[in-house]
Amino acid sequence: MDQVNQLKKAVGDKAAEFVESGMTLGLGSGSTVYYFLKKLAEFVKDGMKIQGVPTSFQTAAWAKKFGIPLTHLASGKRVDLAVDGADEIDPHFNLIKGGGGCLLREKIVAANAKCLIIIADETKQVATLGKFGLPVEVVPFGSEIIADYIRDLGGTAKMRTLENGDPFVSDNGNYLFDCDFGLIDDPGQLHNELKSLVGVVETGLFIQMTDTILIGKENEVKVLKK
Ligand code: A5P
Repeated sequence: MDQVNQLKKAVGDKAAEFVESGMTLGLGSGSTVYYFLKKLAEFVKDGMKIQGVPTSFQTAAWAKKFGIPLTHLASGKRVDLAVDGADEIDPHFNLIKGGGGCLLREKIVAANAKCLIIIADETKQVATLGKFGLPVEVVPFGSEIIADYIRDLGGTAKMRTLENGDPFVSDNGNYLFDCDFGLIDDPGQLHNELKSLVGVVETGLFIQMTDTILIGKENEVKVLKK
């Protein structure tokens, strides 16, 4: 296992320490969450009773393979704890997410959770968000026009495509634009401006949604608390 994956595994294992029997868990997406799921599977095998709400088809497939019981969001019931990765993390606990295209379900689950723990290796920490292309999920209808609206806000918007050139389609049947606004001075404002555009479903800016971040560093997992 290379060093970055060792760090991902270390934070995935650490996040599992926050899990208690009886919890409904939000299961994030991505390669770091994969290690969290593997650790969770060990707990389930040992008899811990938990159920998970997956934030992507990929996570659901991994959870099924590992024997983790799955459930759905239910009216009047909250997820006790969500665990998810991130593409960029700033010092104010704001995030860019959606590199894997799962930002909408991730945000719905995170917003419903009593607590969101972010797990990441140290390469994800930045002083200011924006080097990583900002994913923005849009409805397919009129997507070229929606891209123009996004560009009018001062950024670039490149439709995410598959290797064969077809549009990448999210688990929700939507398209994604990877946007470049340079370094983002005010992520909250940019998020609000993007969300006000007709046809934009969600942005990968997660503003003040977490107060606990686990960062994998060379010899330790750092627990950042707000
Ligand atoms: C999925 O859409 C993303 O939000 C992931 O949580 C994020 O890209 C982190 O993924 P990795 O853990 O694979 O870096």
